[in-house]
Amino acid sequence: MKYKVTPYEVKGKVDYDRLIKEFGIEKLTEKEFNKIKKIAHELHPYLRRKIFFAHRDLNWCLDEYEKGNKFFLYTGCGPSGPIHIGHLSVWLFTKWLQDKFKTDLWFQFTDDEKFLFKDKSYEEIQKWTYENMLDVIALGFNPKKTHFLIDTKHANLLYPEAIKVAKKINFSTIKSAFGFTDSQNIGSIFYTAMQTVPVFLPNVLRKEKRPCLIPLAVDQDPHFRISRDVVEKLGYHKPAIMHAKFMPPLTGMEGKMSSSEKNVAILTTDNPDEVKRKIIKYAFSGGRDTIKEHQEKGGNPDIDVSYQWLTYFEDDDKKLEKVYYDYRIGKLLTSELKEILIEKLNKFLKKHQQSREKAKKLLNKYIY
Ligand code: TRP
Repeated sequence: MKYKVTPYEVKGKVDYDRLIKEFGIEKLTEKEFNKIKKIAHELHPYLRRKIFFAHRDLNWCLDEYEKGNKFFLYTGCGPSGPIHIGHLSVWLFTKWLQDKFKTDLWFQFTDDEKFLFKDKSYEEIQKWTYENMLDVIALGFNPKKTHFLIDTKHANLLYPEAIKVAKKINFSTIKSAFGFTDSQNIGSIFYTAMQTVPVFLPNVLRKEKRPCLIPLAVDQDPHFRISRDVVEKLGYHKPAIMHAKFMPPLTGMEGKMSSSEKNVAILTTDNPDEVKRKIIKYAFSGGRDTIKEHQEKGGNPDIDVSYQWLTYFEDDDKKLEKVYYDYRIGKLLTSELKEILIEKLNKFLKKHQQSREKAKKLLNKYIY
């Protein structure tokens, strides 16, 4: 089966090299790594591990930075359900960028989008907006430099700019980009305009002309492919973009994690027993059928979800390499690999859940 990647559907095993060509994006190479290192003095593990794998206009954006024209960061969250650990990967990397480059971050919560695209009430989406904001705050973004935009709440700021964007996009472009048919509701046709606004809104509000850098999961690229030209026509820079791969769901390397299917995702609110149960029961294994066979022939970490997830949570390259090697040669069993992941994740989640509680008092510091 051929894979599919759009903002509204991800399925199959994604061939990222092919996707780079299809989307017309560029592979991240040593050249960009060196520029990043020059400023950040290190490389985030997600760069070393090719979890962030592609970009648009990153060289331009970093060159401007060096000339003293600092970019601002922009990313977002569609609040339709609980946050799972797949969401966190893009945001953890965004926080690293904020810390290393000392930049502002504009964070959009698209409650309008999720209301229009999901079979959920406005009230339920508002509840998820609140819950999801807590998870974002819990990651420790700098409150002085982080600004939440909630689409319906900040409509007075967003809408006047969104109509300027919308006027320059026609229906046939949206239809073909997202595969919409005539039965699509009319609100969702407009939505791309809303997601475009934060690319330049900070410049409108602050009367500046800074570059915008958007870290995102690669399924969001089609929105910006459409709007990059539009933004330029409106007199702003095209945004630079950094693209992340999808964290695989528990069940295997196909598709992406989704919180509507609870058993294929670990939620940020899961307790240690739930984490343990889900991983033991569902995590797709690259191990052999029997222990004897595994010890003789070794396992395959490249398709093993527990190993793949460890690449998101184990910062130490040496430790990770040892796990990879030991699993390959059959010295490390699937049950042992799962145990390593469970411990790592539960440690991370314990801290996250404590910060998430504290976040309840901090909302006002983040909402613009
Ligand atoms: N549409 C995104 C989602 O469904 C949310 C979003 C809004 C976003 N603006 C963004 C994601 C910018 C990445 C970058 O999750």
